[in-house]
Amino acid sequence: MYYPEDIVAEVRSRVDIVSVLSRFISLQKKGANYVCCCPFHNEKTPSFSVNPSRQIYKCFGCGVGGNVITFLQKYENMTFPEAMEYLAPIAGVTLPERDNSEDARRRMNHKMRLYEANRHAANFFYKVLWDEKYGTPGMEYLKKRGLTDETIKHFALGFAPMNARGVIDYCRKNGVTDQELLDAGIAAFSEKNGLYSKFWNRVIFPILDDKGKVLGFGGRVMGDGEPKYLNSQETDVFNKRRNLYGFNFARSSKKDRFILCEGYMDVISLHQAGFTEAVASLGTAFTPEQARILQRYSPNVYLSYDSDGAGTKAAMRAIEILRQYKVTGRIINMKPYKDPDEFIKGLGAEEFEKRMENAEDSLLFQVHTAEKGFNTNDYAEKTKFHHEIAQFLAQMEDPLERDNYLDAVSKEYGINKEHLREAVGKAALALADKKEWEEARKTGPKKNEKADYMMQNEQLLLTFLIEEQGLFAQVEPYIREEDFSTELYREVAETVFESLRNGKVPDPADIISHYEDPDDQSNVCALFTTQIQDLSGKEEKAKAIAEILYKIKKNSYERHAGERGSSMEDIQTDLKEKQELEKLKKIVIRL
Ligand code: GTP
Ligand code: MN
Repeated sequence: MYYPEDIVAEVRSRVDIVSVLSRFISLQKKGANYVCCCPFHNEKTPSFSVNPSRQIYKCFGCGVGGNVITFLQKYENMTFPEAMEYLAPIAGVTLPERDNSEDARRRMNHKMRLYEANRHAANFFYKVLWDEKYGTPGMEYLKKRGLTDETIKHFALGFAPMNARGVIDYCRKNGVTDQELLDAGIAAFSEKNGLYSKFWNRVIFPILDDKGKVLGFGGRVMGDGEPKYLNSQETDVFNKRRNLYGFNFARSSKKDRFILCEGYMDVISLHQAGFTEAVASLGTAFTPEQARILQRYSPNVYLSYDSDGAGTKAAMRAIEILRQYKVTGRIINMKPYKDPDEFIKGLGAEEFEKRMENAEDSLLFQVHTAEKGFNTNDYAEKTKFHHEIAQFLAQMEDPLERDNYLDAVSKEYGINKEHLREAVGKAALALADKKEWEEARKTGPKKNEKADYMMQNEQLLLTFLIEEQGLFAQVEPYIREEDFSTELYREVAETVFESLRNGKVPDPADIISHYEDPDDQSNVCALFTTQIQDLSGKEEKAKAIAEILYKIKKNSYERHAGERGSSMEDIQTDLKEKQELEKLKKIVIRL
């Protein structure tokens, strides 16, 4: 963590979350809290709330939550030490020298070590590219593709030399272990060669996350060769589903739109031409997770996929995913060029902007693409095509939107509007049936449903314990940290129970600071911000708590009973726990 925990806690406790956040967003007082429109997703009515007494923030729309430090990390893109350095003067705390000793580095957790390893590898590739002796082929290739020095630096592009061990030696010299080289996907191992890197004689595209940390690499052969691109495998820090190339820059483009393309080179060319809102998925198909990320920043996505058959197919799929996240997809026509990189080179940025203005609505794109599969001179095929149109329109849930499309499509193809409307109605019913049927025949999720259900109960119990003074003393004899089945809540329970045992009120902002993963931070934050409604009186609430307690304990008993054998000791423990569970059934909670 670079700074000792007590210093971190001191800095945090001496700053006020409201005054720090007010430097970036305009908060309005509302009751005991402060609210505004969420800076992390797109919205028109405020659901972002800051609680000064707990020193945390939470968005009830998109679910993000955290403390003052995680806000700076998310909103200002700061690293943890940067956030500390920003806050220290406000807090009036002098920070000790950053602890960069060998010992401190060893204490860094595994993921941080992998980021470090990647950073060293990226540095190596970068240095080689600019080295006159070794980097020339890479530099010449990138120049030939029209990239300026500035762009090459901006994207930290690099070059992997012929020697497949150069990067390994360099990382080792910087304290990266062989295991870390393997875990980060920088090196592979073979009996014959020992450790070697699969990246050699390729130009290198480092893949960064939105905080600028290096997740992995893409490497392109110069000229023809197979495979054209080599990408790092997925690792503990590289999740291809959840990251987008170029997003670290695109997120702050201030354009309220994204351009989604297929390749690294497309993103780089577009940025160089001023389209800093361009992103690409990472050599794999566009995913729902990526749609969710984009949707938080803007509801407008322009697709500029390759204009060939494969590109069209991929675009069709991406549109469906975007639609599920209520993102409006529009398709940029790049003809006669293959991809945006070539388009920009051929016709320039101004022409590209014009193509964006004339981008095709995603539903009409689907209809037009489908049309190509039918011979519309044949009446039977024509009818089939019209039914296909109805299928597309049936997906529109908003009746106004559906009607607009009915209008447009019936005019374009000369279909009787009322007949088309009827067909759409039927298709919509069939679609609803199909959905229901699919839900019903899903067999797998039973177990997951139970896990989700227990998670909710565990979350509720923790929330009650945090909210209700005096509750802990009553439940303490019955519940232990191990009774929580969810790892995250079990950890939180340990911290919360420890505070409560010492008669201290749990400190939300402090508990959040134990988690690095933004999803964990948000989930922990939710414990302190969940409003438990629908419970009118104290009695009703007390009863609910007793029930939840029983459910958690029963689940815990069942989990542990499954692991027990038939030894005398096991049988006795089992009996004891069963009796305790029976007792718990009759517990009366008083609030
Ligand atoms: P350039 O030829 O350099 O302009 O690349 P491009 O961006 O036009 O490439 P293309 O449309 O062929 O591929 C788009 C993306 O798919 C690339 O950026 C890579 O992420 C990925 N990709 C392309 N070829 C390969 C390959 O051979 N292997 C793997 N794993 N990924 C590839
Ligand atoms: Mn290309």
